[in-house]
Amino acid sequence: MNDHSLRVYDSIVGLLPSVDNPTPLVRLNRVIPFEHTEVYAKLEWYNPFGAIKDRVAFNMMRDAEDRGVIGADRNLVEPTSGNTGLGLAMLANVNGYSLTTTLSNQIPLEKRTMLRLFGADVVELEDDLCPAPWAPEGAIARAHEIAEQPEFHMLNQYENPANPEAHYMTTGPEIWRQTEGTVTHFVAGLGTCGTISGTGRYLKEQDPNVQVLGVHPNEGHDIPGVRSVRQLEQTRFFHPDEYEGLVEIHDKEAFELCLRLNREESITAGPSSGLALAGALRLIPDEPGNVAVVIFPDSVFKYASSVVKHLAGLGPGQASSRSKREELFDEMIENTRANPDLTIDVASAHELWEKQEPLVIDVRDYDEYRETHVQGAVSIPLEELHDRRSELPEDRHTPVLTVCQRGNISLSGVLFLTSLGYQNVRSITGGTNAWQEMGYATESS
Ligand SMILES: Cc1ncc(COP(=O)(O)O)c(C=O)c1O
Repeated sequence: MNDHSLRVYDSIVGLLPSVDNPTPLVRLNRVIPFEHTEVYAKLEWYNPFGAIKDRVAFNMMRDAEDRGVIGADRNLVEPTSGNTGLGLAMLANVNGYSLTTTLSNQIPLEKRTMLRLFGADVVELEDDLCPAPWAPEGAIARAHEIAEQPEFHMLNQYENPANPEAHYMTTGPEIWRQTEGTVTHFVAGLGTCGTISGTGRYLKEQDPNVQVLGVHPNEGHDIPGVRSVRQLEQTRFFHPDEYEGLVEIHDKEAFELCLRLNREESITAGPSSGLALAGALRLIPDEPGNVAVVIFPDSVFKYASSVVKHLAGLGPGQASSRSKREELFDEMIENTRANPDLTIDVASAHELWEKQEPLVIDVRDYDEYRETHVQGAVSIPLEELHDRRSELPEDRHTPVLTVCQRGNISLSGVLFLTSLGYQNVRSITGGTNAWQEMGYATESS
């Protein structure tokens, strides 16, 4: 008997999530630039083997057993970017199967090592990070080849309806119950698309107004588990017409947000959680009543060798902790964010913009500015503010607004301008995203 209230279980399998034993939903507080929209992270590393894919591994195995398709030799083979393999390997141990996983040697060493530790037979191949179905030498083709032998069975998460069904049966109902039916936006990173399809379908059946939003990485990305649009187009469960929004997030933004989630929220989120959240912040407007749930597929511990490539200062011999000076700066930024004299909500900023024609300084990189910016804003990237201070108005009482993408970097702009003596300067909360979402005038150049 499994007792979820006491958390006493007959075996490790009893820990698998269900509506009675959901993975946690945790509100994000510090990395969210919103005033109204509530954002919750669903922490999927609370699955027994460490990732969202445990749900899929379990359901595919149960389904195959029910259908009696696993042969007497009880050998499974599966192409994987790691997490499905990890879940399957452990369930194979529980149920007396053997597991062979075919995977790319670009998958982080930690995952490949853990697969071996869990007892899987690991076939490493020169393949893309995400196995491509059409690559003749790739992990998927190799798994198919092995599965042609009668003693092997391939569950095939890329095509098996038991993959989205796992989320329809568990992830969706959990979210619906945990939010007491108030969820308005559901956000997931896209890999096989099992998560978004199954959970999205369940939530829309409860409330057709739930917005289902997908996030994918850029072409050539380095985030295990998720796929670029080109890679997604080759998978069976990618149905973008069923999503209300789809957005691309670059590695840099995903890894930086992963870092912030760990340091500012103390949530041990992995890189694809950073990706999903970055997409959520792009797509979801800041409005009363909005309740967003973002899937955080796994924790950062398996990605040491990835994060060290993408984030400065983490390698051996590099500075291991932030200096007091950096901590002081971070505190100044947080104080600025909370100071109503130094920030302005987007509606009030717009009113000011119409009536007083303040100087609007866009502090983002030129590329971002060129793509779209608040109408009439001048571009001075943050790094150039110091050198270009002679371009700033002489009158220190001139109303000035600083703006960036989401209202974070513009806080540094406010600090700098205030230090120069400007007395009427504020950062637009929510940044260009919020401005655009309100339908206020923007331009590109
Ligand atoms: C580590 C990991 N696995 C898998 C997925 C994708 O899930 P799915 O294959 O259900 O689309 C993600 C999505 O962000 C992920 O980060």
